[in-house]
Amino acid sequence: MTDGPGGRVAMISGANRGIGRAIAERLAAEDWRLSLGVRDPAGVADTLPPGALVQRFDAASGDGEAPWVEATLARFGRIDAVVNNAGIIIRKSVLEADDDDVEAMLQVNVKSPLRLVRAAYPALAATGRGRVVTIVSLSGKRVKSPGSSTYSVSKFAALGLAHAIRHSGWDDGVRSTAICPGYVATDMATGLTDRDPDAMTQPADIARVVAMVLDLPNTASVSEIPVNCILDDSY
Ligand SMILES: NC(=O)c1ccc[n+]([C@@H]2O[C@H](COP(=O)([O-])OP(=O)(O)OC[C@H]3O[C@@H](n4cnc5c(N)ncnc54)[C@H](OP(=O)(O)O)[C@@H]3O)[C@@H](O)[C@H]2O)c1
Repeated sequence: MTDGPGGRVAMISGANRGIGRAIAERLAAEDWRLSLGVRDPAGVADTLPPGALVQRFDAASGDGEAPWVEATLARFGRIDAVVNNAGIIIRKSVLEADDDDVEAMLQVNVKSPLRLVRAAYPALAATGRGRVVTIVSLSGKRVKSPGSSTYSVSKFAALGLAHAIRHSGWDDGVRSTAICPGYVATDMATGLTDRDPDAMTQPADIARVVAMVLDLPNTASVSEIPVNCILDDSY
């Protein structure tokens, strides 16, 4: 097994469309081997990078992470990076959202990434340079509006998780980075705003950032990267 880029293995959740798909395409072009977690493999497997393991994975099910890690190790024998990308937004303020809404967002945006990293951790640590990238949001940095406020609660937690992994994995060479975009031209953003998608950050540019982070050595840990398409107070 090579230790160069041709040998590295990345798991990406929600890789069938949007940002996750762009990350998969970018990493495939950089010779990563891919394990892609998607809800409906039958619908997309043929359109994803050839050679990828495409695993049925529902972040809301509560028990899909360990089997996905096992399938990845069975296919590739190693895991170098986990990209926590799958995410949902329920557009309700904290006053409108009920417990089910909150739980649904926490489950997909926070708890599943935690379960996935826990399951993959021994393999990540075994490489001596494991990487975790979590696609958080600028909504994990500031509350922009009432309608995004419950999503923000989940994304603040996701940001905390990224930092918690950075601390917990440091001594094993695991480095954790939170990517915090504003509007990115995907189904999620176009469902939220009538802003011109061409004026939004492009998924391929988020993928470039992720690829760069994954390539950095242990001695160049980047904890957070805010990315924006508009002038926003601090980001
Ligand atoms: N677009 C933005 O403006 C923006 C900005 C900041 C952060 N983000 C974050 O970026 C990440 C990717 O979002 P996106 O913009 O690419 O959104 P998207 O186009 O709506 O794609 C969301 C992805 O997550 C997957 N997903 C949703 N629920 C899932 C579940 N229960 N189990 C497994 N996969 C699930 C979707 O799969 P299905 O196709 O099966 O639904 C899809 O692949 C999310 O974490 C999002 O919060 C997005």
